[in-house]
Amino acid sequence: MRQPLIAGNWKMNGSKVMTAELLTAIKAGLGDIEASEVAVCPPFPYLHIAEEMLSGTPIRYGSQDCSREEDGAFTGQVSATMLKDFGCTYAIVGHSERRLFNAETDAVIARKYQMVTAHGLTPILCVGETLEEREQGKTEEVVARHLDAVLELPGGVAELAKGVIAYEPVWAIGTGVTATPEQAQEVHAFLRQRVAKKDPEVAAELRILYGGSMKPGNALELMAQADIDGGLIGGAALKAADFLAICKAGDANA
Ligand code: 13P
Repeated sequence: MRQPLIAGNWKMNGSKVMTAELLTAIKAGLGDIEASEVAVCPPFPYLHIAEEMLSGTPIRYGSQDCSREEDGAFTGQVSATMLKDFGCTYAIVGHSERRLFNAETDAVIARKYQMVTAHGLTPILCVGETLEEREQGKTEEVVARHLDAVLELPGGVAELAKGVIAYEPVWAIGTGVTATPEQAQEVHAFLRQRVAKKDPEVAAELRILYGGSMKPGNALELMAQADIDGGLIGGAALKAADFLAICKAGDANA
């Protein structure tokens, strides 16, 4: 059975005060969450607050990116070793905003993925098509390419098994437009089947999250789909009540 994972991607939002307040509120509401795994991904400078406030709780935390390099002269980058040093469990890799604004290619993302697993962290690999690609009927082609970048690593499907996938249709991110449960399920099932061709057991265990305007109002229906195992939450993760309501929706589908 796949445990639902609800992960908040805070993106470039927050402050020291906001981080402490949000984490306090999430911790306070955690008693009501029974089955879902809960995680937050604040900006790098606030990871130490997550470490201080979440150590010893079941709430996991992680980063929104990770360098593909081990260490050295890479100004501005943050390594997997550093993330481990701060007690991170997860690192998001390949978010569409990084593909778009930082020109990250599948090859770069695959290297980041490898770096994350090599340090014992769990990558959350984002895949997803743009509106234009969907309208051209290229959704499966695009998400397959994003997935295959990791499947074709030397570790192959065993490498993929170390991570979590997040299907994030670019047209649904921050737009208020959500994929319908049927649209999302179709892509999730496609991804799982693609992994199953390599290894049915890995496919059965692999958690595939949905991301893109997931809110308390649509979370239940989305996560009720057979192949949707949780959410990667942007905007709604910045409001404790909304985030906790989505975690509850994850419980209902556990
Ligand atoms: P929104 O929930 O704000 O649409 O963002 C989704 C996302 O990009 C999570 O990584």
